[in-house]
Amino acid sequence: MPGSDRARGARLSPCPKSDYTDARRTSSFARKSEDMASSILILNGPNLNMLGRREPGIYGRASLDDIRDACVQKATALGLSADFRQSNHEGELVGWIQEAAGRFDGIIINAAAYTHTSVALRDALLAVALPAIEVHLSNIHAREDFRRHSYLGPAVRGMVAGFGAQSYLLAIDAIAHILNETTD
Ligand code: DQA
Repeated sequence: MPGSDRARGARLSPCPKSDYTDARRTSSFARKSEDMASSILILNGPNLNMLGRREPGIYGRASLDDIRDACVQKATALGLSADFRQSNHEGELVGWIQEAAGRFDGIIINAAAYTHTSVALRDALLAVALPAIEVHLSNIHAREDFRRHSYLGPAVRGMVAGFGAQSYLLAIDAIAHILNETTD
């Protein structure tokens, strides 16, 4: 759904605190108060607004709104609040990463084609130094050679690729685990 406002910048209300946020946690830029749920920023790059219609044999039939809804459900179940956004513009993604410092506890990013081209996104992730996880619907290592290299690799804790929409849910599990460790 090109231009879907819902997927582009839907801010979700914080969900109740769970075991994941019981202990005090300090992010790299700001200490959050104890009664705030951990929050994650889920970023999507160019052409992901076309999911569902875009090369379904590779990316599946789920729309970005479907993935957003599944992510919200998963994050809520883990006691996290999530802000799910999509942009076709590199600079907008860079801005959102910069603004995440002090506002979010972690980032999940499917940079789409910018994965393979963007030093700017890599530098932004390194600058904010939040725990970040790279996500891809497809297995980028089983496709064209140019998709095998990710500029984001050195700036993220890890990558989940090849499991379709499930890649996002696995990444949410991973970031919840990382944030939980941070509280110990
Ligand atoms: C993608 C893989 C990228 O190579 C591609 O440019 C995308 C989607 C994925 O989720 O599989 O747009 O990030």
